[in-house]
Amino acid sequence: MTEVVVDHAEGAVPVHALCDKELAGFLDGRQAFVKAFAELSDFKAKAGQVLVVPDTAGAIDRVLLGLGEAGDAQSFRALAAKLPAGDYRIASAPAEIAPDQIALAFALGSYRFDRYKKKGEKHPRLVAGEGVDVAQVRSIAHACALARDMVNTPPNDMGPLQIETIAREIAEQHGASITVITGEGLLEANYPAVHAVGRAAVPERAPRMIEITWGEAGKPLIALVGKGVVFDTGGLDIKPAAGMRNMKKDMGGAAHALALGRMIMAASLPVRLAILVPVVENAISGDAMRPGDVLDSRKGLTIEVGNTDAEGRLILADALTRAGELEPALTIDLATLTGAARMALGPQLPPFYTDDDELAAQIEAAAQAVADPLWRMPLWKGYVDSIDSDVADIKNDSDAWAQAGSITAALFLQKFAPSGPWVHLDIFAWNPRGRPGWPSGGEAQSIRALYAMIAARFA
Ligand code: BES
Ligand code: MN
Ligand code: ZN
Repeated sequence: MTEVVVDHAEGAVPVHALCDKELAGFLDGRQAFVKAFAELSDFKAKAGQVLVVPDTAGAIDRVLLGLGEAGDAQSFRALAAKLPAGDYRIASAPAEIAPDQIALAFALGSYRFDRYKKKGEKHPRLVAGEGVDVAQVRSIAHACALARDMVNTPPNDMGPLQIETIAREIAEQHGASITVITGEGLLEANYPAVHAVGRAAVPERAPRMIEITWGEAGKPLIALVGKGVVFDTGGLDIKPAAGMRNMKKDMGGAAHALALGRMIMAASLPVRLAILVPVVENAISGDAMRPGDVLDSRKGLTIEVGNTDAEGRLILADALTRAGELEPALTIDLATLTGAARMALGPQLPPFYTDDDELAAQIEAAAQAVADPLWRMPLWKGYVDSIDSDVADIKNDSDAWAQAGSITAALFLQKFAPSGPWVHLDIFAWNPRGRPGWPSGGEAQSIRALYAMIAARFA
């Protein structure tokens, strides 16, 4: 990614960011030409609206950015997407919007997935405001771009080995240790559910368990767990075509866990990390797990496979059990776990689940502060019977009566989660509709909020 946020640039064009009610006052103080041009262009300072004001020589004199009613840093994503290439600086913006959040939104808004396109597109650059830690902004933007690139990359180029390679690079860059257990080794190392889900894939795309550990002894340990299904066909309970079409993104949880881990390591937060990523292809072959199979799990609980398409919770079961063995001070898991989460909250608002009210409040505060929205949903005990099995300790698809599929998936995970503070995020990792600053395709969700929460909680 080109560096779109810079410390300094000569002759940067001034940008005025305005709430809609500030617009009239602003224009009154300008030359008549600017006011007439804004009116002609129907510029109303709506959120994300951009007006490029020319000078008499036809160059850009200044830029107006609309912030809408309240004013939110996220409007600066549209600025990055709409401006022509060149250097810009913020000449005025509401005091409530922190300059680092402006710079970060600008960087996130300039993201493109161009790996398979002809290159050459030039990006506008933003001079960061006074006091902004540019390295920190870039590090967070890079991590978000990594997650988006991983999700966007087609499944033929983002298989288990590619995820392993990315994990190894991240570990190496930050002096972390990494172990990868692959294929039949998973049985020996006691990851039976990861093996069962991933064993139908061709040998080059064998399942694996990736474990990165980082940080100094004595610091509190955070376990980051991510669902890494490189493609989810649904297995033998095969997904319909429409549902399968976007299932390259089913490794989004793994991408998010690695990206969040990288942010934490790059900032040297005073914690230790264990990044636990089970990676599988939910494929179909003569060796695929079947509906009705009973699997062993690392924890020792037997799991009846009611539906092979509920594969994410199976691999997370073993990974969460592994997390518990490390006695973390906090466990976070991220997964594109259910379609039901989308039925409840839509693509923009990932649900999170935790029984820890203090942790929930910290997550909500952080989500608000960095405009990375999340919504708490309940681990509703009344539905826990819906995952009882007639033949095993538990089953992976809940009874129809319970209906709330995102909740019952979270309740399944809770059976395997460590006893300490734990939060589960059922992310979508995708923009189904493109708009300026939010291109359609892979999206980083929740990791800026989680980073801010962790930085505050372990300060
Ligand atoms: N990866 C899917 C969930 C998903 C689907 C996430 C669409 C985002 C968009 C998951 O593995 C799955 O198939 N879940 C099933 C579970 C069901 C079979 C109990 C679902 O949600 O329908
Ligand atoms: Mn599935
Ligand atoms: Zn899945």
